[in-house]
Amino acid sequence: MSDKKLKSVSGNAFDLGLLIRVLRYVKPYRAMFTFTTFMVIFSALLAPLRPYLIQYTLDETIIIPKPGLLKTMILLIVGILILEGIVQFLQTYLANWLGQSVIRDLRVDVYRKITHFRLKYFDQTPIGTLVTRAVSDIETIADIFSDGVLIIIGEILKLSVVLIVMFILDWRLTLICIIPIPVLLWATNIFKNYIKVAFQDVRTEVSKLNAFVQEHITGMFIVQIFNREKQEMDKFKAINARHRDAHLRTVLANSIFFPVVEILSAASIALLIWWGSREVLDGVVQYGDLVAFILYIYMIFRPIRQLADRFNTLQMGMVASERVFKVMDTEAQITGSGKNLKPSIDGTISFKNVWFAYNDEDWVLKDVSFDVNKGQRIAIVGATGAGKTSIINLLSRFYEYNKGAIEIDGTDIRDFDAAYLTRRVGIVLQDVFLFSDSIYNNITLNNPNIDRNLVIEASKKVGAHKFIERLPGGYDFDVKERGGMLSVGQRQLLSFIRAYIYNPSILVLDEATSSVDTETELLIQGAIDQITEGRTSIIIAHRLATVQHADVIIVMDKGQILEAGSHQELLKKDGAYRKLYELQFV
Ligand SMILES: Nc1ncnc2c1ncn2[C@@H]1O[C@H](COP(=O)(O)OP(=O)(O)OP(=O)(O)O)[C@@H](O)[C@H]1O
Ligand SMILES: [Mg+2]
Repeated sequence: MSDKKLKSVSGNAFDLGLLIRVLRYVKPYRAMFTFTTFMVIFSALLAPLRPYLIQYTLDETIIIPKPGLLKTMILLIVGILILEGIVQFLQTYLANWLGQSVIRDLRVDVYRKITHFRLKYFDQTPIGTLVTRAVSDIETIADIFSDGVLIIIGEILKLSVVLIVMFILDWRLTLICIIPIPVLLWATNIFKNYIKVAFQDVRTEVSKLNAFVQEHITGMFIVQIFNREKQEMDKFKAINARHRDAHLRTVLANSIFFPVVEILSAASIALLIWWGSREVLDGVVQYGDLVAFILYIYMIFRPIRQLADRFNTLQMGMVASERVFKVMDTEAQITGSGKNLKPSIDGTISFKNVWFAYNDEDWVLKDVSFDVNKGQRIAIVGATGAGKTSIINLLSRFYEYNKGAIEIDGTDIRDFDAAYLTRRVGIVLQDVFLFSDSIYNNITLNNPNIDRNLVIEASKKVGAHKFIERLPGGYDFDVKERGGMLSVGQRQLLSFIRAYIYNPSILVLDEATSSVDTETELLIQGAIDQITEGRTSIIIAHRLATVQHADVIIVMDKGQILEAGSHQELLKKDGAYRKLYELQFV
């Protein structure tokens, strides 16, 4: 147990602010919460009743035989037993129901929050972490309800009620019984601390396993191409072995602790019988008392043993909720004052001395200025890493620029409502992302307002209809995860349809870098010509053949604009563009 490990689990089970924040999610289920609390209290009060009735039955109906009363007492005890069972059932079911309802709501909130984060946030936060927050951390929070607060309160209450009843019945016998309890508390404390660290280790190893398997299945082809199977397998085996060890540590702790508790409760019973039997013989204590006390002893030892577990669960829940709320408190949304809400936009774009860096002062765009008039088609070309995609990232408000201004229709894009702008600026990204769903759903993204005929019409325009028709199931063909069943060119065409179908006033295309065969290349070029026709558009091109029809071509290098003009003008200029052109065509 290193200090570092202990530190990583130092979340406080009694962080009241945090607890209140979690409990706020109970509000919609207030009635159920109250009822469950009532059940917990009721069950605590009910606990000492049965041993007391047993004692009474023994002393009053068996030792002094009264068959009639005995029958009544047995019926009463069975009745109480059934009642206890029902209360126990309600308590467990309702506490879990509450927990699951709360995390359902919380998960929706967290997911909604995540969907609104801007891209910069995802650059800095591993996907695996966010998945853990939205899935397993939230799961742990449910335990605060099912195993945590209410149950702990219930158990402490039960413990106190039982002890009080015991003292009232016979304070000397009670004192004898609780002699081993300090030892139990001491053992419990050791166990609690040990298992806390062990559980945390298990969780860490599980998340490492998750991350490793996920990443390596995604990148399996790289592993195979470079023959790294053995090395990666060794890494996997190491993590897997650490997981087993961590898990075994929790098992070890449990399997030592539980027998210790059994031994201590046996010791308590032994003390009781040793002392009690003498008292019985002396006629000070009755038989029934002894039997009742044996039952009471189990009622004290079991909750104490479980409290250790429950506190750990509560603590884990608190640590998890702290992490989840941290995501909830992150301010990384795309904002916009939303002042400008004209029904449509004309579609002029103007970059005015724009400076931008992803990190600090690492300028990716340096003083970039250009204008696109309504209906104009401009193309941006330049070496890889020149900053072309970054221009799109700013225009789509994925990132915030540092200096200068970007205007659409003469209004700063930060003054638009984010959703308003997204609807009017169509963007096709360089890396096409498809969901494992049908082609149709991938185009409409499950928007029910898009008509099927519109989709077919758009695919005809883009020139994708023919290949889609040929697929098994046509538009209902399942493209599988990330569109694995389609070629790069086909995926790009789908992404064109996706943007085109919204009939955006401005269209921004980032051409895929991957090379495609000549036929597909012609298809893509035709598609670009079609969908940018008469529309303000920015085309980021990697193949100069694509850009020759553009009204203005901008040549970029290292975040700056080198030259701009039409194809003919730039060729005449004999500058960077001409060099690029000659490299590709001559
Ligand atoms: N998310 C990011 N975080 C930090 N730096 C980034 C990020 N994305 C890009 N960069 C950096 O910004 C610079 C410009 O990248 P950009 O993607 O705009 O180039 P590009 O012109 O689109 O290149 P390509 O032709 O390869 O698509 C590069 O140096 C890159 O390393
Ligand atoms: Mg790019």
